[in-house]
Amino acid sequence: VRLVVLVSGSGSNLQALLDASADPSYGATVVAVGADRPDIEGLARAAKHEVPTFVAAVPSFPTRDEWDAFLTASCAGFAPDLIVSAGFMKLVGPRFLASFEGRYVNTHNALLPAFPGMHGPRDALAYGVKLAGATLHFVDSGVDTGAIIAQVAVPVLDDDTEETLLERIKVAERRQLVDTVGRMAREGWTVNERKVRLGRG
Ligand code: GRF
Repeated sequence: VRLVVLVSGSGSNLQALLDASADPSYGATVVAVGADRPDIEGLARAAKHEVPTFVAAVPSFPTRDEWDAFLTASCAGFAPDLIVSAGFMKLVGPRFLASFEGRYVNTHNALLPAFPGMHGPRDALAYGVKLAGATLHFVDSGVDTGAIIAQVAVPVLDDDTEETLLERIKVAERRQLVDTVGRMAREGWTVNERKVRLGRG
């Protein structure tokens, strides 16, 4: 299975996928990495693994629609079976969604449907929840609203700061991402009215 991974930052989730796909039995290979900005650690990680990269920066395009067209074509050029948003901080447009519907997933650092958006761990901490976690979900036109593929919970500790909680979430998030994408690659998946099942069942 061919993976394209989209990143905006440090790319630790990308790194976990790159490491996993070094083993041929994993079932998925990162064939390209795309970013919405240059000079980020995620792109450097890809280059280190000799994985091709592309940058689609919104300000470089006259309209959001043209950016969406470029992003769509750039991904399509690598013939992906699955596209993973791993800390990609942009909402894709309708063309991208239509092209990759059911094949575009995002990892979010909260237990959806609670705490969508940019600051999941901070919002969870402020709310006072005792369990936080990460969600892998398909992307639809909403913000973190698509069908849920997998979730993992971690405890919130009394002395947590946003940083310590985020770090605990990210350890579990990376493991979940690698495990779930591997299973999707090896076993396939079905979606029926938001119910996602892994395997060919
Ligand atoms: C992840 O926690 C993801 O859920 C959030 O941004 C973080 C990206 O981390 N949207 P990294 O760039 O993979 O290290």
